[in-house]
Amino acid sequence: MPTAHPVLKAVIPAAGLGTRFLPATKAMPKEMLPVVDKPAIQYVVEEAVSAGLGDVLMITGRNKRPLEDHFDRNYELEDVLTAKGDTGKLADVNHSSDLGTIHYVRQGDPKGLGHAVLCAANHVGDNSFAVLLGDDLIDERDQLLQRMVEVHRATGQSVIALIEVPQDQISLYGCAAVSDLPPGLDLGEGSEPTATEVRQVTGLVEKPAVEDAPSNLAVIGRYVLNPAVFEVLRHTPPGRGGEIQLTDALATLMDTDVADGGGVLGVIFRGRRYDTGDRLDYLKTVVTLASERHDLGGPLVDWLKEFVADK
Ligand code: G1P
Repeated sequence: MPTAHPVLKAVIPAAGLGTRFLPATKAMPKEMLPVVDKPAIQYVVEEAVSAGLGDVLMITGRNKRPLEDHFDRNYELEDVLTAKGDTGKLADVNHSSDLGTIHYVRQGDPKGLGHAVLCAANHVGDNSFAVLLGDDLIDERDQLLQRMVEVHRATGQSVIALIEVPQDQISLYGCAAVSDLPPGLDLGEGSEPTATEVRQVTGLVEKPAVEDAPSNLAVIGRYVLNPAVFEVLRHTPPGRGGEIQLTDALATLMDTDVADGGGVLGVIFRGRRYDTGDRLDYLKTVVTLASERHDLGGPLVDWLKEFVADK
């Protein structure tokens, strides 16, 4: 039986330049783009914290100071809101600085996602950890990360999140080939299939051409990783786009003995995922989440119906 490491820390790569949102991201990190009234990155930190990962390391770069400011206290603002007696807004302002313990390390050279994750090695040490990519928001009601942590604890294997996508979109993602689980693999307590299913990952390729893709299962931005991945990353050569790819390191880990920290499982996610990675998906995310808000949803949906009827 492999020894499963406890998962206590979350790593959030946030060093990207956000070129798809220029000029909005010329002087502001893309992670700070508002999704309704919170920056996108706050949803991701909240997700980590609610999965029990209160120690968060952000991998940042130049121009990312607003991230640190957002998760820090803002005494001037607090004083003004206190003087006004605006306790609601004060609670909102304090919430982001009370979320968890947030640490920062700079990536320096933008050498890819695998390199960004490797920048977390010192902070994470010999512990399993989660990686959350900020472009994917997972609905808090769907508890994907909790399930992945549970599967990792029970098996010791690294766990990735997969969604089924139309075949012609697979080139936008890492792609996984999977097989049924080996008989007798214990996935932990309360593991009846709800919104998720678990598979053994047998192949991984970063952004394949449609005709080369081994499946229509796309890797999305949630990973729970065995610390053995760091040693693999140190030896992973640049891959697609000349970058050190996390997908390539996981392909090596997949073929490594479980006793040596290897093995990769995939949780197939069928819940609600919102993409903030490109402009159209970002707009859809904002409208979807705003339409579900009790303070905005009713009037927004009424207006949308009239707006669409007039188009
Ligand atoms: C990264 C990963 C890719 C994954 C995607 C999910 O790509 O390299 O395997 O499918 O995140 O969002 P990126 O979108 O950063 O290019």
